[in-house]
Amino acid sequence: MPDGLALDTALVVFQAGALARGLLSAMRLDAGDTVLITAAAGRVGSLLVQWAKAAGATVIGAASRAKLDAVTGFGADHAVDYDAAGWAEEVRELTFGRGATLDIQAIARRGLTLCGPLGMVIRKSDAEQQDDAEQALAAAGRGELRPRIHGRFPLDQAAGAHRELEERRSVGAVVLTI
Ligand SMILES: NC(=O)c1ccc[n+]([C@@H]2O[C@H](COP(=O)([O-])OP(=O)(O)OC[C@H]3O[C@@H](n4cnc5c(N)ncnc54)[C@H](OP(=O)(O)O)[C@@H]3O)[C@@H](O)[C@H]2O)c1
Repeated sequence: MPDGLALDTALVVFQAGALARGLLSAMRLDAGDTVLITAAAGRVGSLLVQWAKAAGATVIGAASRAKLDAVTGFGADHAVDYDAAGWAEEVRELTFGRGATLDIQAIARRGLTLCGPLGMVIRKSDAEQQDDAEQALAAAGRGELRPRIHGRFPLDQAAGAHRELEERRSVGAVVLTI
């Protein structure tokens, strides 16, 4: 654990940051890619935006309207409201008609297996998982990965934490404290 990293920040990065790093490396994200990240203001999505930008990609983040400023704040080049009609066309226009090079369809083209309508399974070895977690913690320690904590809820208010998530109010991670 890097010196000076707050415990709750480390907790978010340790899991969601490692997941984001593992996903992008499994997809073989390249600096020339234009990547579409959905739920870009969420716990994982916000870290995906930051990792993808750090890797040099052009990032389009999709989220609900109220969260678009947060998405650009995480570093996305463009933020689109995926509750609006025609948002897919907006993405196409932003990519000069080409579409994103890295989206859920492109994943299959890069040799990953889709399971279910929008699902994907990535199996990592323990060593890869440990490396992803260490890299994520180190990036947070250097200030390159900045997880946003939407709120901290004592365990006996877990229902309130769930409501934040279910009602789509959260930006970043919701943390339960003991
Ligand atoms: N397989 C794994 O290892 C693994 C690990 C962690 C997470 N995940 C998955 O990754 C996804 C993101 O996880 P997360 O922790 O980043 O979640 P999160 O912080 O709760 O973010 C989810 C986002 O989904 C969007 N959303 C769209 N429709 C929604 C609805 N009906 N109810 C609630 N939210 C809705 C919300 O943003 P808008 O309001 O902007 O739409 C929200 O920010 C989830 O599907 C989770 O299950 C998988």
